[in-house]
Amino acid sequence: MEEKREESEEQKNKDQAQDHEQVVTPWQVAAKDSGKIDYDKLIDQFGCQRLDPSLIDRVHRLTSRPPHVFLRRGVFFAHRDFNDILDAYERGEKFYLYTGRGPSSESLHLGHLIPFMFTKYLQDAFKVPLVIQLTDDEKCMWKNLSVEECQRLARENAKDIIACGFDITRTFIFSDFDYVGGLWVYLVLLGKITLEKLAFHPYSQLIQYDSCVVVQAVPSFPSSFPHLFSGKENLRCLIPCAIDQDPYFRMTRDVAPRIGYNKPALIESSFFPALQGETGKMSASDPNSAIYVTDSAKDIKNKINRYAFSGGQDSTEKHRQYGANLEVDIPVKYLDFFLDDDKELEHIKKEYGAGHMLTGEVKQRLIQVLTELVERHRKARAAVTDEMVDAFMAVRPLPNMFN
Ligand code: TRP
Repeated sequence: MEEKREESEEQKNKDQAQDHEQVVTPWQVAAKDSGKIDYDKLIDQFGCQRLDPSLIDRVHRLTSRPPHVFLRRGVFFAHRDFNDILDAYERGEKFYLYTGRGPSSESLHLGHLIPFMFTKYLQDAFKVPLVIQLTDDEKCMWKNLSVEECQRLARENAKDIIACGFDITRTFIFSDFDYVGGLWVYLVLLGKITLEKLAFHPYSQLIQYDSCVVVQAVPSFPSSFPHLFSGKENLRCLIPCAIDQDPYFRMTRDVAPRIGYNKPALIESSFFPALQGETGKMSASDPNSAIYVTDSAKDIKNKINRYAFSGGQDSTEKHRQYGANLEVDIPVKYLDFFLDDDKELEHIKKEYGAGHMLTGEVKQRLIQVLTELVERHRKARAAVTDEMVDAFMAVRPLPNMFN
């Protein structure tokens, strides 16, 4: 999880978490008593549904390809109306995908890649168009960054997104400052100044989130993209995202019928844990809490060997006797996300859990897997030119987007 919103807000939420319950909002993720996030409780609280194995089987059947590892391993674990999307698809109706990123930092870590890797799979499997929002407006509003810097970060992040392999004939990437319209930059700047002036005014909390929340909501409606979906106002939208984005789209789903649109469907992931353990937080200010796509092979090796929290015992003798606690072991958790081979993963869990395999050996395998992944990403990103970014971001029709 990233650093989010303003200090005071963050502190308030933390206090809430300590006093009462876990807090998961688009701006803050805090577990109860700094423990683990309780995802069952979150499903209850948010009122979304669990993504059960029968739905995953259906995806398998409808797409005639093995479900993505993130589906098989329960990384994407919750949804809203995903079954309706599949019903419609089965009847021969298509849909479109919508996802996004707040461009707050130059380089992405592995957690940031997860929704995009998954969205790429969905696009390939269902052969549907995709719109990707870069919320440079929101970052400008809430961070001490200029309009130009946010726009630059958006383009840099677009390169990482394109490197995930999206199909240019079916993908439109847009930045809010570019796409919302010519007045938007000034509206955001004016809003930002007004907020600074209002900082201590009781209304400031009330108006704080509004404009950016609705800008993130409207891409859920096909009419927001007349160059793509004109005449297809009933096209359904599926949003892959981390579950902290759910409140945005709960609001969107509430208003959709009132303005004559379908509710967007959602498919939602859990959070990618920090190297220090699931109770830790990946933090932008601590580069050792996460693996970045810009890390060298040496960085990856060092970070995993030094920081990846081990569920193994503290002496070899004890380890051979008791085995590793897989529940808290980060190398195993990371392999869960990124080791494709189900049989090998099963084997590692069994041997490591029984104490036959040592932490060092599991880390060794993880280092291999992640070094390959990061190297592949680095090469793909290096091949993304400015012209390609322009091409993905051009406001244009996508004539063969459903083929
Ligand atoms: N709010 C998201 C972030 O800060 C970015 C985002 C915009 C997004 N639109 C989205 C994420 C749609 C998922 C789906 O990262």
